[in-house]
Amino acid sequence: MKMLLNDSMIERTNIVDIEDRGYQFGDGIYEVIGVYEGRTFLLDEHLQRLQRSASELRISLPYTLENLKAKLNELVKVNELNEGVIYLQVTRGTAERWHQFPENTRPNLVAYTKEEEVMTELEESGAKAVLTEDIRWLRCDIKTLNLLPNVLAKQKAIENGAVEAIMHRGNIVTEGSASNVFIVKDGTVYTHPANNYILNGITRQKVLEICRKNKIAVHEETFTVDDLFQADEVFITATKLDIIPIIQVNERIIGNGKRGKVAETLLQDFRASIH
Ligand code: PDD
Repeated sequence: MKMLLNDSMIERTNIVDIEDRGYQFGDGIYEVIGVYEGRTFLLDEHLQRLQRSASELRISLPYTLENLKAKLNELVKVNELNEGVIYLQVTRGTAERWHQFPENTRPNLVAYTKEEEVMTELEESGAKAVLTEDIRWLRCDIKTLNLLPNVLAKQKAIENGAVEAIMHRGNIVTEGSASNVFIVKDGTVYTHPANNYILNGITRQKVLEICRKNKIAVHEETFTVDDLFQADEVFITATKLDIIPIIQVNERIIGNGKRGKVAETLLQDFRASIH
């Protein structure tokens, strides 16, 4: 199994320098890119978002996006990855441990591939979610390595027999621990606007595009925990998770407790858009 380390394709290694700033400070960014039938999906969009995260944190990417794109496609090929994801991270670099930015330090870029199947069963049957307070910082739009609140939220979900934790700031639903959240009420789709409180998911953007193409009314507007409970449908989106219907939140059944029509239609179109 090969990995990309800075500009070289090497055999996968597990050695991390103790002074890599990603390791010590979470000072870095990442992307998770879906691979379906051996081909990357929405790679340009993921790389654009990586570029945005990097510039928000004043990390300069070591390569052009074109160069990176070619390298990542090569990685999928040499690892013969059919279904899975590419994990790509860039840290500010390796330097003596001081909190402030180091001078003259080159960012460290690492990418590897991971096999992952699409959860087709859950996409049909739907899944349970739990609610949890969103305790993250105020720049959730940056895809940083600081994921401790997300880890704690996801663990809470798993311990309660759920697949995802849906986070809320006070009364407002923000997003899942590793996904975006949508509700459907009277045929209209709602999802949190893409501002500093959420990550603007690449799957989210694709789903919005599909809604508009199919003339499904869609509002990027905040909604409350109560709206979530009262929704006809709830679903979550993320890379390789695609579109998972949420049929139960805490102990409350959503709608009729089955996958709704909107989620089903969107998933069909989403699948069709893959290649
Ligand atoms: N997470 N919101 C959060 C907090 C996320 O971590 C993710 C994805 C999303 C969905 O984004 P996208 O559609 O671009 O995958 C939303 C990835 C998959 C992860 O951390 O593993």
